[in-house]
Amino acid sequence: MSDEKRVAKLEIDGKSYDLPIFSPTAGPDVIDIRKLYGTAGVFTYDPGFTSTASCDSTITFIDGDKGELQHRGYPIDQLAEKSHFLEVCFLLLYGELPSPAQLEDFESRVTNHTMLHEQMQYFFRGFRRDAHPMAIMVGVVGAMSAFYHDSTDVRDEWQREVASIRMIAKMPTIAAWAFKYSIGQPFVYPRNDIDYASNFLRMCFGVPTEDYQVNPILSRAMDRIFTLHADHEQNASTSTVRLASSSGANPFACIAAGIACLWGPAHGGANQACLEMLREIGTPDRIPEFIARAKDKDDPFRLMGFGHRVYKNFDPRAKVMKQSADEVLELLGVENNPTLQVAKELEAQALADPYFSEKKLFPNVDFYSGIILEAMGFPTSMFTPIFAVSRTVGWISQWKEMIADPQMKIGRPRQLYQGATLRDYVDIEKR
Ligand code: SDX
Repeated sequence: MSDEKRVAKLEIDGKSYDLPIFSPTAGPDVIDIRKLYGTAGVFTYDPGFTSTASCDSTITFIDGDKGELQHRGYPIDQLAEKSHFLEVCFLLLYGELPSPAQLEDFESRVTNHTMLHEQMQYFFRGFRRDAHPMAIMVGVVGAMSAFYHDSTDVRDEWQREVASIRMIAKMPTIAAWAFKYSIGQPFVYPRNDIDYASNFLRMCFGVPTEDYQVNPILSRAMDRIFTLHADHEQNASTSTVRLASSSGANPFACIAAGIACLWGPAHGGANQACLEMLREIGTPDRIPEFIARAKDKDDPFRLMGFGHRVYKNFDPRAKVMKQSADEVLELLGVENNPTLQVAKELEAQALADPYFSEKKLFPNVDFYSGIILEAMGFPTSMFTPIFAVSRTVGWISQWKEMIADPQMKIGRPRQLYQGATLRDYVDIEKR
């Protein structure tokens, strides 16, 4: 944050207040209102935080108007094409691309933390078989606080590092086991001789009765999906993790809170909702009916996978995902996938409709991801858990950044109170 001396002048009832303006390395200037209530006795009002910067950060930058996303300055399309998920994890966590030796060490540390405490499997067995895998993940991740006591003290840098590696390493195992439990198949343990994405696919689709051969096309597509979902500035679930962490709560409990928030259909749950919507549309001739519903103010229906709080242009991740969908489905010989055809026609018709262009509503990361995941063999209930596996590194990176920030304070927003003013209690006999 630069120490520019620019100020914003605020006048209230004839009194003038100077509020410092800070300029970032990229993006909009910010007005520092931290002393506003103390000097002017007023709050700012911003439900949904559409115009509020909640923190300083150096991790991810988004330009919503240009449709740009950068992790530590590197554009997402370059990372998706040239890097791989664990290297992006290193970049998000430590700020720079790793040297070969650093990458080898990091990948070894993650690989050697992929197993869960053996007793944790009993948590899975306590759920109904038809439990949504996100419900299981919230429970199991929260329960990690009860098993990994040697990495819960957030004041200890070494414990923070161990918790970070454990979370990134164990989330694929937790998600895969939630899937296996839901389909009544035995848990498949991780292996140390295959890469992160391949390990996840093998734990999901392997069975003890035969060796599982990882399809390199699917493994590369899985790794790219992990890379595209890794972090995204101060989105709802990341803000949830930051707020939970600001009280000093342990990292596992805070990540469980992030998983719970991500589950919502307006956020990470949109990938599941989008594929279910595309299936409901079924054929291109029904698209106008659904576009009309999305435009109807009296109809709560919205096009899932469309629109974004920040992007008022194409979500750059959606572009990469669309290209990946074409590649993967062609390589799998399902390029005529009806759901993909409906998605492409829906995108074309929506983008040609003034309602969507005027409101700057474009496909987001969730619009095409489900099509790839479905082609890979995942049920829709696994789409958001896969998003959570990837986003864990973003949550952890933002958590580490906040905990290390000397300015960190417990998050405690105020309100515009519209309720009853002071009044005396009325005994029931007098009511
Ligand atoms: C993710 O924040 C992040 O970074 C999130 C994420 C990440 O990586 O962490 O990018 C992941 O959550 C992507 C978004 C996934 N959600 C969906 O695809 C669900 C469908 N999209 C909408 O629910 C909506 O677009 C949101 C929630 C994504 C954004 O909502 P906003 O910013 O609060 O916008 P809004 O609701 O104020 O909408 C502005 C206008 C409204 O019309 P008016 O009241 O101005 O007349 O656009 C309309 C909305 O009705 N609108 C839509 C629409 N999205 C917004 N109309 C139809 N279909 C839609 N999808």
